Amino acid sequence: MTGPGETGHDLTAQAVDSLAGCRDPRLRAVLTSLIRNLHHFAVETSLTDAEWFAGIRFLTAVGQISSDHRQEFILLSDTLGLSMLVDLINHGSGADVTESTVLGPFYVPDSPWRANGDAITEDLGENPLLVSGRVRDTTGRGLEGAVVDVWQNATNQLYAVQDEHQASDNLRGRFCTGPDGAFEFRTVRPVDYPIPDDGPVGHMLAATGRHPWRPAHIHLIVSATGHDPVTTHLFDSASRYLDSDVVFGVKPSLVRTFTEHDQTVEPPPPGITGRWCSVDVDIVLRPDAEESSD
Ligand code: BEZ
Ligand code: FE
Repeated sequence: MTGPGETGHDLTAQAVDSLAGCRDPRLRAVLTSLIRNLHHFAVETSLTDAEWFAGIRFLTAVGQISSDHRQEFILLSDTLGLSMLVDLINHGSGADVTESTVLGPFYVPDSPWRANGDAITEDLGENPLLVSGRVRDTTGRGLEGAVVDVWQNATNQLYAVQDEHQASDNLRGRFCTGPDGAFEFRTVRPVDYPIPDDGPVGHMLAATGRHPWRPAHIHLIVSATGHDPVTTHLFDSASRYLDSDVVFGVKPSLVRTFTEHDQTVEPPPPGITGRWCSVDVDIVLRPDAEESSD
């Protein structure tokens, strides 16, 4: 009789050897590593038949709930920290450029173009926010004509795509930077919100004693000719979930203080009435690899 370790070892070698005919070297390398690590996981945990089958049922449910409107596999990847690990591997923790983070499921391309200073919502409500910033290169030069694509949730925690009561363009928009790279828009202060937790990922979170919350943030995708685009967030430093983001998306460099203003001391800017807050954010883009090697 062989012990489980030896059996596992033989099987692992056989499964890896089965890839000998694979002509794509990268595919072979990735699958070899996947097999080795999956086998190691099963051996390390002494995975039982019942646990193996529970895993199969779980992954089946993740697939079954996925649709054109819901990507439960990405949500699973996000909540297991895999999405942010891949982000780190591919985009590093650039010291001199704006760091990236998860895209999330609520991005809708082709947001309406808006003029600098515009509001991205019809109703600024009770917590109006002025966002201003500058897109620049790593030498500090402002980048004119950069595109700042933004989206965020409403005070009821929902993004427009999740909420039939919001106009489809609510709280999203695209801005083009001026000569000095500046952009500005009016919005509502974003709020903390739970990721969709009514499916298998939500069950996994509950079963493991985890909460489903993300700290309040505004999403941005910023692009400029000759530079690598960045998909990032602007986090509100006042959020209570900065240290426990369910998708591990917080990087300290992305957290900003939203300054609260008393309207009797600091009159609000045009288009805002009453109590208001503001936040300033500089976005720094890396020259793209091809341009900079010319
Ligand atoms: C979001 O920030 O919109 C998000 C990111 C990952 C999972 C769910 C939501
Ligand atoms: Fe979000």
